[in-house]
Formats: sequence, C-alpha cells, structure tokens
Amino acid sequence: MSRILLGVTGSVAAVRTPSLYRAFREAGHSVRVVATGPSLHFFDAAELGPPEGSAGDESIPPGPLLRDADEWPVGGYQRGDSVLHIELRRWADLLVVAPLDANTLAKFALGFSDNCLTCVFRAWNFARPVILAPAMNTLMWDSPVTRRHLAQLLADRGDGKAPEGWTLADADAIFARHAPGIVLVPPQSKRLACGDIGLGAMAEVVSIAEVVRTMVM
Ligand SMILES: Cc1cc2nc3c(=O)[nH]c(=O)nc-3n(C[C@H](O)[C@H](O)[C@H](O)COP(=O)(O)O)c2cc1C
Repeated sequence: MSRILLGVTGSVAAVRTPSLYRAFREAGHSVRVVATGPSLHFFDAAELGPPEGSAGDESIPPGPLLRDADEWPVGGYQRGDSVLHIELRRWADLLVVAPLDANTLAKFALGFSDNCLTCVFRAWNFARPVILAPAMNTLMWDSPVTRRHLAQLLADRGDGKAPEGWTLADADAIFARHAPGIVLVPPQSKRLACGDIGLGAMAEVVSIAEVVRTMVM
C-alpha cells in the first residue's frame, strides 16, 4: 500500500478524477486529491466518497479532497501551524498529476508556485516519483511551447544527456531514459471534448493506473 497524491488541473479530463481515485483506492492505496480551482468545475467532490480514515498524518485535513483554501488556516496563520503543501509532500510516496493541463505544465516548468499543487511540485523531493499525464487541445499539445516546457523539466530533472532533436512523439521515451524520476504518460489521439480530432486527450484511466502499479508496492 502506497500513499498517492493525485494532482488534478483544469482540463476537461478532470471529469475522470473520481474514476482515477477509485482505481487507486481499489488497488489498495491511500489517496489524497489536490485540486486546482479550475479543476473543480469538472467533478463533484462527493463522488470521491467519505474520508478513508486516518491517512497516516493528522496534520493533513481529513477527507479525500484538498483545495487551495485548505492551505490557509481559518483565523490566520499562527507560528507552528502546519504548512499543507509541505505536509502533503512528506505524506506522499508518489505524485500523479492527471490531468496535467497546459497552464500547470508551464508553471511546473517555470517554477511558479501560486496554488497548493504547484507548491507541492516546487517543494517535491524528486527522489520520489512523479507521474505526469498531460491533457490539452491538439494545437496546444503540438505547440512548440509544450516541447519547451517539457525540455525545461528534462533539463532540471534529467541526466543532461538527452539528444537535441527529440520530439513530442518520443517525449515519454526520452523522459524514461534521461529523467526516470518523472514518468510522462503521453496523451492519446481521439475526438476531444471541444470537437477537434487529434492528439491531446488524457491517457485512459486504466493506462495511468497500470503505470502506477509498476511503480509502487
Ligand atoms: C471547458 C474547459 C475545458 C478546458 N480544457 C482544458 C484542457 O483539456 N487542457 C488545458 O490545458 N486547458 C484546458 N482548459 C483551460 C484551463 O482550465 C485554464 O488554462 C485554467 O487556467 C487552468 O488552471 P489550472 O492549471 O490552475 O488548473 C479548459 C477550460 C475550459 C473552460
């Protein structure tokens, strides 16, 4: 049993959050969901079900879902209060960001830390694995900006030996070889929610769950 922190961002693929959460729970893992504000438009927190009991750390608020507001203690921060994004980082064995939208990918690459999820990523101990499952419109995915942001993560977290000419088509293999601490689960091609047809849809829940299965006990 592992402790999985599921980061969810504002892609339409966030509708899969309850399924992904259930898949991890059914595999016996303890799961917390840290959701960006926009992602909350796509799923109902009630679908995650009741708290699973003690998640092993009393300094994390109860319940499966953590929102940005949970970072800030009611009545103001007092010296000695816990800092949620640091507690989550300490708690989690594995960070899965699914879906990873274009905006949060950019923030991860540039080091922004303006919400709970980006603070977790910025403060992450990269000795523990991170799984990223991007989801965005085809033209967003195909944009040179996507490659630039992935290349930045590769530069920051890789072995510095990735060949110059890699493309988005082989980005997952490049990460596996040169930055194995970050596992990229590539998007799939299908008719997207916006009606466009092409690459950009988040990988299937079963595929992400299978990647997790190979990485944790
Ligand atoms: C209906 C709708 C669907 C969206 N789907 C996506 C998407 O699949 N991928 C993406 O990168 N952005 C998508 N966006 C845009 C993001 O929600 C927007 O960039 C937001 O600021 C992301 O914030 P976050 O990264 O903090 O979650 C969508 C927006 C809307 C209104």
